[in-house]
Amino acid sequence: MSARNPGFAHRFFPGESDATLLLLHGTGGSEDDLVPLGQQLAPKAAILSPRGKVSEYGAARFFRRLAEGVFDHEDLVFRTHELAEFIEAASDEYGFDLGRLVAVGYSNGANIAGSLMLLHPGLLRAAVLFRAMVPFEPEEVPDLSGMPVFLAAGRRDQMIPPQNTQRLVEILTEAGADLDVRWRDTGHGLTYEEVAEAKEWLSRELAKLS
Ligand code: MLT
Repeated sequence: MSARNPGFAHRFFPGESDATLLLLHGTGGSEDDLVPLGQQLAPKAAILSPRGKVSEYGAARFFRRLAEGVFDHEDLVFRTHELAEFIEAASDEYGFDLGRLVAVGYSNGANIAGSLMLLHPGLLRAAVLFRAMVPFEPEEVPDLSGMPVFLAAGRRDQMIPPQNTQRLVEILTEAGADLDVRWRDTGHGLTYEEVAEAKEWLSRELAKLS
């Protein structure tokens, strides 16, 4: 199924279970990019996969940046609210349960997922964050008590300084999230091993939700 819901170009695939994965691609990706990953991670879940609306010289992103790793905060906040509205509208339109919505984000997509968690705590039931960094320093840390979060990071990531991911871990820990952090001696690209680990984690967490 494709763009019926105005706002974001997106894909929606109904599932056989009551869970829905919100797939959030990295810079230069599209709504099609992470669909195979989502199907691998949770074969029975429905999929909602929007395309980021910001174009950086033609590369789609979920919010603007001023330089690599330096975010346009105003745009980030605006885009985060806009995405939250889209998610709620999509849930009405397609009839999926927001209480069973799990974000799966990679890089820029993981960063907007983190921003959704900080600005709309409770909207996402759980999150899988691949190669994430701090979207912004929150003035007040939100209450994310017990929210299951799987975070996979590379110690040799050239785009995302490990200390930045570590700061995100601190913020999410302070917020009370139930974090599972996996560090690997790898770079920005995803590895088969961590996809397998995320799949295992997700099947455990989804079983707890149903
Ligand atoms: C971002 O801009 O969100 C991060 O630098 C990662 C990316 O380039 O996608």
